[in-house]
Amino acid sequence: MGRNPSVGGSVHLGCDTTVLPGSSFPYYHLSPDCVWELATTRGGLAVVLGLALIIVVRYFRSPWRRVPPGPRGLPLIGNASELRDKVWLFSQRLQTKDVMYLSALGQPILFLNSLKAASELLDRRGTIYSARPRLIMAQEIISGGLLFGFLNVDDTKCLARGRWRRSRRAAHQGLTKAAVRNYHSILRKEGVLLTSALLADPGALEKHFERTTASTMMSILYDYPTLRSENEKSVKEAVAYADRMSGSAAPGAYLVELLPWMLHIPERFARWKYEGNRDFTRFNTLFESLFNRALVGMDPEGSERPSISASVFEDSGDNQLSRQEMAWLAGALFVAVAETTSTTMSWWTLAMIAHPEVQKRAHIELDTVVGRSRTPTFSDAPNLPYIQAIVKEILRWRPALPFSLPHSTTEDDWYNGMFPESHAM
Ligand code: HEM
Repeated sequence: MGRNPSVGGSVHLGCDTTVLPGSSFPYYHLSPDCVWELATTRGGLAVVLGLALIIVVRYFRSPWRRVPPGPRGLPLIGNASELRDKVWLFSQRLQTKDVMYLSALGQPILFLNSLKAASELLDRRGTIYSARPRLIMAQEIISGGLLFGFLNVDDTKCLARGRWRRSRRAAHQGLTKAAVRNYHSILRKEGVLLTSALLADPGALEKHFERTTASTMMSILYDYPTLRSENEKSVKEAVAYADRMSGSAAPGAYLVELLPWMLHIPERFARWKYEGNRDFTRFNTLFESLFNRALVGMDPEGSERPSISASVFEDSGDNQLSRQEMAWLAGALFVAVAETTSTTMSWWTLAMIAHPEVQKRAHIELDTVVGRSRTPTFSDAPNLPYIQAIVKEILRWRPALPFSLPHSTTEDDWYNGMFPESHAM
């Protein structure tokens, strides 16, 4: 390679040329000088114009120009600043769009903004849209790669391959209809306790809801005694984990998500990494001690102290999970349930206050089906269609996780003439 025209036997245009191995064609290095030289000859001008035309046509036909609408970003950083300030979500221009698109430091992010888009992409095209994005802080550091809701089917970064399949199988077995029947008595007891607490102290609604969901889940997961208060130490720690993890998973929370090489910075130069590792140790201790506590004194048959931890442990021959994986599985279920359920109960109460006519109709249904001499049981549920419909409407009207958990795409795709590219979040 050089400025020697004879190299590669090429036409002399004064440009650097070389012949690639296995090719008889010269390869031109299109430096600015070279383009100028090409352009100043007549044939060269035609070549340059032709190239320019190809570039322009390719630019306008490029799928990258057909990404869904979104807020305008800045050069280089794209929409990184919009991830923190979510005002754009409410802009008139975007509010009605099915799908919105952002790009933050090269990370494409899609927001699905309608039932139509969500069911088309997450449901019908689930094979492309069901992976989880890589969450370095929330999953790999703070959760030690053990939070099963954020695992991927073929997670090559996961030291224990197959963890996704094993964890899901175990969770499924612990949550089948038959398995859940074991916990009906706990749910009934907590229902009665909640009702009497609400009657005794109606001003502390949220505290009652939080205590009820925490107590229910601690009993179901760990055979924990009924909680007197939502301020029990283990519960506060588990809630602290949920807050820490979800805060870290929020788009834009940590730069390392956009610049993964930062993961290699030693802890002493990266406070975020030090704090993440410290928190993993803290939450790992919490989940392992709760799990081990559930197994203490466990009947070898498992029938005396039923709990999800106990049944996952009994199945460990089948599910092949390590003790630590099982402990994190139970911890993940606590996190998945506690806040979502108590928040939904709060919205339910608000809806009943805001719509007294609906409350009245629900009450009539309850009086007709159950009467006033006993509390409702699970066998009454199929005979209470109006109340079931209200529950579904609350979940639709005020979903406890409006942004859901992030999904990730595994392939480029086309949707309504738009181009959601692969590895979008
Ligand atoms: C009102 C209550 C609840 C709400 C609003 C809620 C909402 C959600 C949402 C939006 C997701 C993300 C789904 C996705 O990635 O596409 C999710 C995942 C999950 N939820 Fe719930 N949930 C609730 C209650 C529960 C309960 C009671 C359990 C278990 C006993 C549970 C266990 C899970 C698990 C294990 C996942 C992760 C699933 C996976 O990654 O495959 N959730 N939940």
